[in-house]
Amino acid sequence: GGGGKVVTVLVLGLDNSGKTTMLRTLTTTEQEGQRQGPGASIVPTVGQRQENFQSGGVSFRAWDVSGAARLRSLWERHYRHCDAVIFVVDSADHLRLVVARSELELMLSHPDMSGRRLPLLVLANKSDAPHALSAPHVASALGLERITDKPWHVCASSALSGEGLGDGVSWLARQLR
Ligand code: GTP
Ligand code: MG
Repeated sequence: GGGGKVVTVLVLGLDNSGKTTMLRTLTTTEQEGQRQGPGASIVPTVGQRQENFQSGGVSFRAWDVSGAARLRSLWERHYRHCDAVIFVVDSADHLRLVVARSELELMLSHPDMSGRRLPLLVLANKSDAPHALSAPHVASALGLERITDKPWHVCASSALSGEGLGDGVSWLARQLR
């Protein structure tokens, strides 16, 4: 309990980008994390799951939706009901950055999303991985500077260690409070 305003956040991004790992890290206590190890027993998401977490006085109801190509059509069911989006990118998956960009553009141009001032947090995830691109590099590869109808923010993160997640999520909380 304790969180004030309740918001619905949609967690999107290609398969294997780290969405479920990120939510696990945000919702697991340090003690549990030490017992299980980061990312323990996380498997590709089938369909969608809901997870709750709190930050900066905001209670987030997060929808973790599969990023698998054949399940991406599930994303749009949530557009109408969400207050914010976290878009997770694997910064070390250079080849699929163009796919991530086109999925992001498709989402932003959907009639239920375009023109809405909902905040968009982009996580340049797996910053711990060898050859991970920097957050500014990911931002330009995704064409974020062209987004003018939404407040957006990009953060380097490691969903495994939790590095960068706090900064990103507190930015989101400030936008929504
Ligand atoms: P789908 O459910 O298939 O859409 O994938 P997802 O985006 O939920 O990815 P998931 O959290 O299942 O993570 C995929 C793989 O990436 C797992 O092996 C994770 O351990 C790994 N992973 C996630 N985040 C990080 C990170 O920040 N750094 C590193 N090195 N690996 C990560
Ligand atoms: Mg998942």
